[in-house]
Amino acid sequence: MALSVVILAAGKGTRMKSSLPKVLHKIGGVPMVQRIIDTVKTLGADSIHLVYGHGAEQLQATVKEDNLNWCLQQEQLGTGHAVQQAAPHIQDDDDVLILVGDAPLIRVETLTALREVKAHCDLALLTVVLDDPTGMGRIVRQSDNITAIVEHKDATEAQRQIKEINTGMMMMRGADLKRWLEALQNNNAQGEYYLTDVIGMAAAEGKCIQSAQVETPVEVEGINNRVQLAKLERALQRRQAQDLMTQGVTLADPARFDLRGTLTTGTDVIIDINVIVEGTVTLGDNVVIGANCILRNCAIGDNTVIEANSIIEDAQVSEDCTVGPYARLRPGSVMHKQAKVGNFVEMKKAVLGEGAKANHLTYLGDAEVGANANIGAGTITCNYDGVNKSKTQIGEAAFIGSNSSLVAPVSIGKGATVGAGSVITNAVDDNALAVGRGKQRNIANWPRPTKKS
Ligand code: UD1
Ligand code: CA
Repeated sequence: MALSVVILAAGKGTRMKSSLPKVLHKIGGVPMVQRIIDTVKTLGADSIHLVYGHGAEQLQATVKEDNLNWCLQQEQLGTGHAVQQAAPHIQDDDDVLILVGDAPLIRVETLTALREVKAHCDLALLTVVLDDPTGMGRIVRQSDNITAIVEHKDATEAQRQIKEINTGMMMMRGADLKRWLEALQNNNAQGEYYLTDVIGMAAAEGKCIQSAQVETPVEVEGINNRVQLAKLERALQRRQAQDLMTQGVTLADPARFDLRGTLTTGTDVIIDINVIVEGTVTLGDNVVIGANCILRNCAIGDNTVIEANSIIEDAQVSEDCTVGPYARLRPGSVMHKQAKVGNFVEMKKAVLGEGAKANHLTYLGDAEVGANANIGAGTITCNYDGVNKSKTQIGEAAFIGSNSSLVAPVSIGKGATVGAGSVITNAVDDNALAVGRGKQRNIANWPRPTKKS
C-alpha cells in the first residue's frame, strides 16, 4: 500500500513574533519543516503533501523538494479543513499519515511503530501521557477502546482529568479519511473543522482504533514560541550528542557541543568543549578538535589536530595536519598532508602543499604553495588591487622571510628564498634569493633629538 503523508503547516505562528513563517525557524540548523520532510523521506513516503498558508513565498524559496505536493489552505479554518486541502490528492487505498509541521523532533522509529499499529487496525493514533495536558485534545476511552478525542476547550471537567493526549499524528486509510472529512462540522468551542472529530466517526462506524505511545514526550512537542524553540533545540542537541558518543566519539562535554547539520566521524575522534559543527562535516580517524572551534562544510583527514579557537569553512584539510590555535580557513582552502597552519593565519582559496608551513600571522589568499615551503611570520599575499584578485604561486621548498609582501600576480620559484621584509613584485627564479627592501644604513654616533624647553 502506498504511504501518503500530510504535513500540516498552514498556521501563522503568531507567538513566534517573527517575519519568518514558524515552520522555517531552524532546529539543529535545519528549518523545522525540512527536518520533518527528511524524517518522512527516511520512513519511505510515496507522496508528501504540505499544507501551507502563511509565508508561501518564503516557504517555497527555502523548501526545495522535487516531489512535494504543495496544498494551499487559504484560510486557517482548523486542522480538519487543513487536511481537506490535501484530500483530492490522496488515493482511496493509500495509507495516510498525518503529521504536524511544528513538532520537528519526531523520530522515524516512532512513526514506524505507529505504522505497525495501523497495519492491524483501521485508525492508529500517536498518543502521549502528560503530567500537564492543558490545552491538548484528550483521548477518551471506554473500557480501553478509544471512542473520541475531545479538545480541551470542549471538554467536560471530568474529561479534562484525562492525561493521555492527542499528538496530532495519526494514520488511516485514504477512503476512510476522505469520507470522514466530508462529514466534519464546525459546531464547537472554536468554530473550527477539527481533524480530531474523525475519531468519533470511526468509533461510530465500529472501526478498530488503536494507539501507539511515544516514549519521550519531547518528540511530539510542538513549537509555538521561542522558549519552546530553545527547549527543543537543547533536546535535539542532547540526542545528537548521545548518538555521537554511542558511535565512539569523545565529547568533552555533551552539553557544550552543537551540531547544526550532519557530522560523519572516523574512530577515536575527540571534541573539546564549545565546538560548533555546521552543514556537512567529515572528521577522519583520531582527529582532535580543540575548544571553541567552528567547523562548517569541511573535511578533516586522519590524525589531524585542530587547535582551539579555529574557524574552518568550506575547506579540505588532509591527514596529519595541524591547524591553529586561532587559525581561519575560509572557503576554498586546501591543506595537503602534514601541512601546518599556526596562530593568526588566514587562508582563502589557497592551497598548502604537503608538509608546507605557515606558522604565524599570515594571510594566504588566492595562493598556491608548493610542498615543504616555509612561509615566515607576517607574510601577506597581496591578492587584491582594489578592483581585481590575482594569484600568488610559491614553489616547492621555497622560503619566504618574515614580514614579506608578495604582490600578486607573482610567482616565487622552487627552492627560492625571499629576504625578510621584502616587497616582491617580480617573479623570482628557482633557487634564487630575492631581497626587496630599503638598504640598511648606519650612522655612527648619531645625536638623539632633545626636548625643547
Ligand atoms: C491540535 C489538536 C489537538 C492536539 C494538538 C497537539 C485538533 C483540532 N486539535 O490542537 O487534539 O492535542 O494539536 O499539538 O486537531 N494547522 C493548519 N491549518 C489550520 C489549523 C492548524 O495547517 O487551519 C496546523 C498548524 O500549523 C499546526 C497543526 O495544524 O502545525 C496543529 O494546529 P494547532 O492550531 O496547533 O492545533 P491545536 O489547537 O494545538
Ligand atoms: Ca498546537
